[in-house]
Amino acid sequence: MISPKEATNTCLGINDSVTNVSELPLNPVHNAQYSFQNVRRSTVTKWTHGLHKYPAKFIPQIPRWALAHCGPVHGKTVLDPFCGSGTTLIEAGLAGADTRGLDVSPVAVTISEAKTTITNLSASHFSKLLSEINDLALDQLDAIRNSFGSSVGQNCNGLHFTWSNWFGVDEISGLVATREAIMALAPKTERSFLLACLSSVSKSCSYLDEDQIKVRLDKNKKPLAPLSTFTRFSLEAFMTQATLAKAYTSAGASFSVDRGSADALPYNSQSIDVIVTSPPYMNAIDYTMNHKYNMFILGLIQPENFKDHCREYIGITERAVRTKDALQVGSTNNQVADGFIESLIDEGSALTANRAYVVYQYFSRMKMMFAESFRVLRPGGRAAFVVGETNRVCGHLIPTAEILEDMANSEGLATDLRFAHVMANRSSMRLNRSQTGGQINREMIYVFSRH
Ligand SMILES: C[S@@+](CC[C@H](N)C(=O)[O-])C[C@H]1O[C@@H](n2cnc3c(N)ncnc32)[C@H](O)[C@@H]1O
Repeated sequence: MISPKEATNTCLGINDSVTNVSELPLNPVHNAQYSFQNVRRSTVTKWTHGLHKYPAKFIPQIPRWALAHCGPVHGKTVLDPFCGSGTTLIEAGLAGADTRGLDVSPVAVTISEAKTTITNLSASHFSKLLSEINDLALDQLDAIRNSFGSSVGQNCNGLHFTWSNWFGVDEISGLVATREAIMALAPKTERSFLLACLSSVSKSCSYLDEDQIKVRLDKNKKPLAPLSTFTRFSLEAFMTQATLAKAYTSAGASFSVDRGSADALPYNSQSIDVIVTSPPYMNAIDYTMNHKYNMFILGLIQPENFKDHCREYIGITERAVRTKDALQVGSTNNQVADGFIESLIDEGSALTANRAYVVYQYFSRMKMMFAESFRVLRPGGRAAFVVGETNRVCGHLIPTAEILEDMANSEGLATDLRFAHVMANRSSMRLNRSQTGGQINREMIYVFSRH
């Protein structure tokens, strides 16, 4: 057993040399290391992959490889139970799969729905819709501006009372007026697409630093005008989505995207052929903080429900842990994980008790997620998981990937393949994992099979 504080990241037996690739080989070498260091930006933002920034998003090369390696998936059922911004869903759709996406974040669900939109609108109809949305937003603007103007320091129009720290009255009014107009006028098929476009431009209409996962001010910033920025962005994105929709249709793809939790999958037993996913890291990326204002602007979460919503995530953020949660720490049924949790509890401070819960919550729910993945996979089904290799928690280097592999195996998922991805350029978006407090430099890619 690896003792706390002594774990190293060499225990997985990964070879030292790194192979640079632009696409992974269909059959990577077991225990090898690959890097996408020289990959061109245009290959990562193709289609609507670049519609919305998203922390720790896949570069499309990874799910594309996984679908080919575990497939072919044409006509098969593919699931990403942590679908985030929908990278797997685009690639599975292009490969002609019946594609399911699930995420606990309503922002992720909206972006994933947007990228899987199969629109029937022509460019001229969409353009007409945008000008109607613009007109209605302008009609409502004065009333919304007045309500924000008299509500500084208070919740208003679905925004948390801190809105005035990050948005000017004109900009937040324009964003909310646009949301209201979308909700009133957009056909159901295009609604998520328009909301995702609004979400995508909202930070550039604020004083929020767009390069930060945490909420930070950019003092030198000049916020953009919401209505014209939204209209311009949406029209351009629609042209790409319309072409993508045609490719989905000719590939024979179908989609469903749901909000839910990966440790309680809303799918029938043995109904999924292939899983391709990248679960959250432990104690590394605060998705709820990164998307806090997007959720409010889109009307997806009310400010008074925000704290409870934060507790729904696997890899709960430290700030959402309540004192009473520490009392609920039990066994994860994994000796190594339990060893770290006990050491943190033994250290006896409020901080280490909080972190013990973070570690416990992560591993116990990930174990349930593997059990659920086993249940929904058909016999012979395969699952590709991309996970962070290690996490440092209060000085303890936790061999996260090794623990997760163990858990997957004990839930009946056998390891077929394991290799490392060196995080040179995981994403063309600037919010990638290597820039987070989790200091994750390498991730492990596993292919499991269900016998
Ligand atoms: C690494 S990101 C996935 C990024 C995705 N592969 C992409 O390309 O955008 C992990 C995702 O897990 C989601 N998540 C966290 N807890 C969850 C849960 N209990 N059930 C489902 N999704 C969850 C987060 O909202 C986040 O979108």
